[in-house]
Amino acid sequence: MRKRGIFTAYALRFTDAAPRNAPHSVTLQTPANTFSIEPASWRDLGALRQIEQICFPLDAWPLLDLLGVLTFPNVVRLKAVAENRMVGFVAGDLRRSERLAWIATIGVLPEFRGQGIGTALLTTCEERLNVPTIKLCVRKSNDTAIRLYLRYGYVKVDEWPRYYTDREAAIVMEKKR
Ligand SMILES: CC(C)(COP(=O)(O)OP(=O)(O)OC[C@H]1O[C@@H](n2cnc3c(N)ncnc32)[C@H](O)[C@@H]1OP(=O)(O)O)[C@@H](O)C(=O)NCCC(=O)NCCS
Repeated sequence: MRKRGIFTAYALRFTDAAPRNAPHSVTLQTPANTFSIEPASWRDLGALRQIEQICFPLDAWPLLDLLGVLTFPNVVRLKAVAENRMVGFVAGDLRRSERLAWIATIGVLPEFRGQGIGTALLTTCEERLNVPTIKLCVRKSNDTAIRLYLRYGYVKVDEWPRYYTDREAAIVMEKKR
């Protein structure tokens, strides 16, 4: 899974320069769907809350964290839109002074998985995080997500025992570019 909530895991860092939530969207075609990757905003709070509860039933972020991830200035936030609704979300938490960013969360609704939407969210977010190192953490048992990260150049750099509320360990992965 991902980092704990954006309030609970991070100190606020308003001194970092804001990332570029580039206004343009990216449209992609898969055999099953046409979807686009677009900047997300506070207007997506309701849809994000639903995605969060479906994708992370064990530790969905509370409302305050969701509002934070949709409004903080140091976050790249992107949504995947298909069939005129939000079907996926990614957030990249930028720590420009440390020259790194964390993928804070990524999720796609189950019925839209396996079509490249997660990949498109991840790679588009990476493009907009203009730092040499990107890190993330993931539940040790989350093979699907770990495969995705390995495919896109992340390597395991650490393991945090009992990181999640149910005491599962987190694998910390890192990509240098
Ligand atoms: C992890 C997650 C975001 C991946 O999203 P996704 O949209 O399914 O990702 P993709 O479709 O890009 O890739 C998933 C699989 O589909 C395959 N795929 C990608 N495009 C495809 C296509 N056009 N046709 C068929 N398969 C495709 C990929 O090869 C990959 O296969 P693999 O897992 O067997 O290696 C999603 O599973 C999810 O939301 N999980 C729950 C939340 C979660 O665990 N998030 C990670 C937190 S760290």
